[in-house]
Amino acid sequence: MSISENALGYTGTAKALHWTIVTLLIVQFVLSWTMPEIHRDTKPETLINLHLSFGALTLGVAIIRLTWRATHAEPPPEDGLPPWQLQSARVMHWLLYGLLFVLPILGWINASYRGFAVSVFGLFELPKLVATRAPGFGWTGDVHGLLANYLMLTLGGLHVAAGLYHYFIRRDRVLQRMLPGA
Ligand code: HEM
Ligand code: HEM
Repeated sequence: MSISENALGYTGTAKALHWTIVTLLIVQFVLSWTMPEIHRDTKPETLINLHLSFGALTLGVAIIRLTWRATHAEPPPEDGLPPWQLQSARVMHWLLYGLLFVLPILGWINASYRGFAVSVFGLFELPKLVATRAPGFGWTGDVHGLLANYLMLTLGGLHVAAGLYHYFIRRDRVLQRMLPGA
């Protein structure tokens, strides 16, 4: 059974999970754009290791977030929103949730394929998802990078633009529903 949210907006837990993921994604993009390019014989040194660790952490928080979301309904929609906006927001949120799983899992498969040990901040190691150089898995790195650099940034950009549209143009309270303290 779904537990209903605060009618005025997302609860503190939903907000904390949302903004933790946003922060982790910013860290991930900065790391992925500054880490050395990965070739066949690249060793996963500091920045690459951090990318693997923060990526694993992002996947962990995404699992907690989705579990939490599955047991807690979103707050009722703002009054007066056109149905197309409600539907497109719902589709966008599920696409973003989907990417929060597909993206790190493809990265993890690629790390296994490359023979990288995925140590999470030196605390423990994730199991290998495929054998090193397992035939048929070479594409996972390129698709992981393309999905992150193009699809996630495009969908995330549209999602942010929608929030700003509600705040500055429609002047409703959709953005405030997700802001800390609001
Ligand atoms: C949501 C979390 C993640 C984001 C946003 C992300 C983002 C990226 C991006 C943008 C690149 C391409 C860098 C470039 O432009 O050259 C990349 C590469 C890579 N990432 Fe991630 N990543 C995430 C999670 C992970 C995880 C969990 C792992 C492994 C445990 C991982 C492993 C890799 C590897 C091995 C590459 C190199 C791929 C290649 O060039 O063949 N990533 N990541
Ligand atoms: C500065 C960046 C961001 C802003 C301003 C923002 C704003 C918002 C707002 C206002 C909502 C609530 C919408 C509503 O009431 O219907 C929301 C929900 C959501 N956001 Fe963001 N967001 C940002 C970044 C992100 C990113 C990077 C992701 C994931 C990749 C994300 C994923 C989601 C999801 C999945 C929901 C739906 C929550 C639920 O109902 O379960 N957001 N966001």
